[in-house]
Amino acid sequence: MRAYNFSAGPAVLPEEVLKQAQAELVDYQGTGMSVMEMSHRGKEYSAIHDETIANIKELLNIPAGYSVLFLTGGASTQFAMIPMNLLGAGQTADYTNSGAWASKAIKEAKALGNVNVVADCGKEIPTRVPSINELKLTDNAAYLHITSNETISGAQWKVFPEHDCLIADMSSDMLSRPLDASKFGLIYAGAQKNLGPAGVTLVIIKDELAERCPETVPTMFRYKTHIENNSLYNTVPTFPVYILCLVTRWLKAKGGLEGMKKINEEKASKLYAAIDTSDFYKGTAVKEFRSDMNVTWRLPSEELEAQFVAEASKKNLKTLKGHRSVGGIRASIYNAFPMEGVDALISFMKEFEAKNG
Ligand SMILES: Cc1ncc(COP(=O)(O)O)c(C=O)c1O
Repeated sequence: MRAYNFSAGPAVLPEEVLKQAQAELVDYQGTGMSVMEMSHRGKEYSAIHDETIANIKELLNIPAGYSVLFLTGGASTQFAMIPMNLLGAGQTADYTNSGAWASKAIKEAKALGNVNVVADCGKEIPTRVPSINELKLTDNAAYLHITSNETISGAQWKVFPEHDCLIADMSSDMLSRPLDASKFGLIYAGAQKNLGPAGVTLVIIKDELAERCPETVPTMFRYKTHIENNSLYNTVPTFPVYILCLVTRWLKAKGGLEGMKKINEEKASKLYAAIDTSDFYKGTAVKEFRSDMNVTWRLPSEELEAQFVAEASKKNLKTLKGHRSVGGIRASIYNAFPMEGVDALISFMKEFEAKNG
């Protein structure tokens, strides 16, 4: 039996995708080899690689002049690679601080250049992301960095600020809703939440930005290297890209990102309604900025929270414990998380409140 897996990441993948990968695992389409065992420059893998790029371009309607890259090192490596490539000597980069992940991005950028934190709500409780009108932007900043969804606190940007060079860490909401990619200079995400298994990092970059990179940056850390080599400068993580390919096909079959957004909003609004109609559960994020991906809330005591997580687990509702840094409950309901799992959680919440409220 499959668990209802509320893990924040690595996270649930579509069952259809896992089953197809299982069917093709040992002998990929009559080749007698697993995708894991093939050359990353051979015909079969090349077809997977190119289809994945094409599907992502189609899903996000990415205009000409942008590249879709498959890198390694997770989103955490992007925290450093972005300032290494895009923050020139004497320039300033603007960052918004919305919580744990934004803070990590800021820390890396500060090690490499001048950083201006243009809005700081990183430690506020209840949690939120900044409002656009509170950003105190630097004139001629090299870029503005935001974290589109704070995975730990459960706060999400609903409308994006405008900037000549807007950069977003979309690790926990990439491909969960439609996006005007042309408004961004660079978007990045570790795959292990909404896209596929850990091991590949998706980067979408406006090509002209890669020209900014100083000569001193080593080859593997230059976006230009990966753009010029179609992400095949070195051995690309072939199997994670293959799963990402299957996930993009699954997304297209679900009606693309418009279709996905509707499903995601329905799941999230049901769960938030269950929280709001109770005096027992208390949502963690400011309503206006509540995430559709990571729903966070508290119970009246930490003891009750521990009991909630333990009893839920016995009912096959797994990994609901909040991040170790903040506690509470967190239900991550990414694209692949099924609606029935949300319904099952809501029934359990009602039952638990009736017994313990
Ligand atoms: C918003 C966000 N950014 C960055 C990261 C770090 O990603 P990685 O583990 O791929 O380096 C995470 C991981 O949970 C995240 O949620």
